Amino acid sequence: ASTLGAAAAQSGRYFGTAISASKLGDSQYTTIANREFNMITAENEMKIDATEPNRGQFNFTNGDRIYNWAVQNGKQVRGHTLAWHQQQPGWMQSLSGSSLRQAMIDHINGVMSHYKGKIAYWDVVNEAFDDSNGGRRDSNLQRTGNDWIEVAFRTARAADPAAKLCYNDYNIDNWSWAKTQGVYNMVRDFKSRGVPIDCVGLQSHFNSQSAYNSNYRTTISSFAALGVDVAITELDIQGGSAQTYANVTNDCLAVPRCVGITVWGVRDSDSWLGANTSPLLFDSSGNKKAAYTSVLNAL
Ligand code: XIL
Repeated sequence: ASTLGAAAAQSGRYFGTAISASKLGDSQYTTIANREFNMITAENEMKIDATEPNRGQFNFTNGDRIYNWAVQNGKQVRGHTLAWHQQQPGWMQSLSGSSLRQAMIDHINGVMSHYKGKIAYWDVVNEAFDDSNGGRRDSNLQRTGNDWIEVAFRTARAADPAAKLCYNDYNIDNWSWAKTQGVYNMVRDFKSRGVPIDCVGLQSHFNSQSAYNSNYRTTISSFAALGVDVAITELDIQGGSAQTYANVTNDCLAVPRCVGITVWGVRDSDSWLGANTSPLLFDSSGNKKAAYTSVLNAL
């Protein structure tokens, strides 16, 4: 196969990218994205602040732009994200306790009903674990009660039974880290108690502090063994090492329930990290990088 999407499809997987609505008028950007990728995540447009800028008033203008572009070009969509401590609108930041809990539930229902039956995977909860101690991150959502995550998943299942429901986080790729074990224990608990969870998203933002580790494959296979799909959801590698990109790809392909890889942007110039970190598969002029060839050959 000569594109990332077609190559991933050879093993029943997808290869995706994050898309920004503001760039859908850039023909170099859309040409590459349309040619290479078959799963699309909105980089910001389906987040809480974008979709519910005022309480109870939903706005799907930019989310729909990305959704429609994806579907018109034959692609699937990952929904990102419904419950998160970041990119909350001001009205939500100012809530607490039972009113915040209700606002979270209403938000999940409002967004998921708009996209009902249309989204392959939803990142229901994003980044809920503490960076170092293996416990929950302190946040306004956490302070509504420890059961907020399972309430979010139960709400999501009822709102759109067709969507696969994911927990998504960063720094849960290294099996030896407490944060990874904390999320693993939550997923194991959810599966044992019948809390509806279908997948774990490993964001996989790799840099010198959070470097790719050879135990990544163990992390993927260990989550999968709990009975969930695993997706690599926001891959970028600062420095753009072709070898590391190949390792990540090979690790996913080694685990049957690793369903696909999404890179967090198209060209280096599209990256949230800045083009100078060279983290993606296409350079800022839209040329394929060594990392691109390395991924394509591994798929
Ligand atoms: C980032 C976007 O790429 C930026 O454009 C935005 O300013 C901040 O959010 N983890 C996530 C993503 O789950 O939503 C984040 O995306 C990157 C880190």
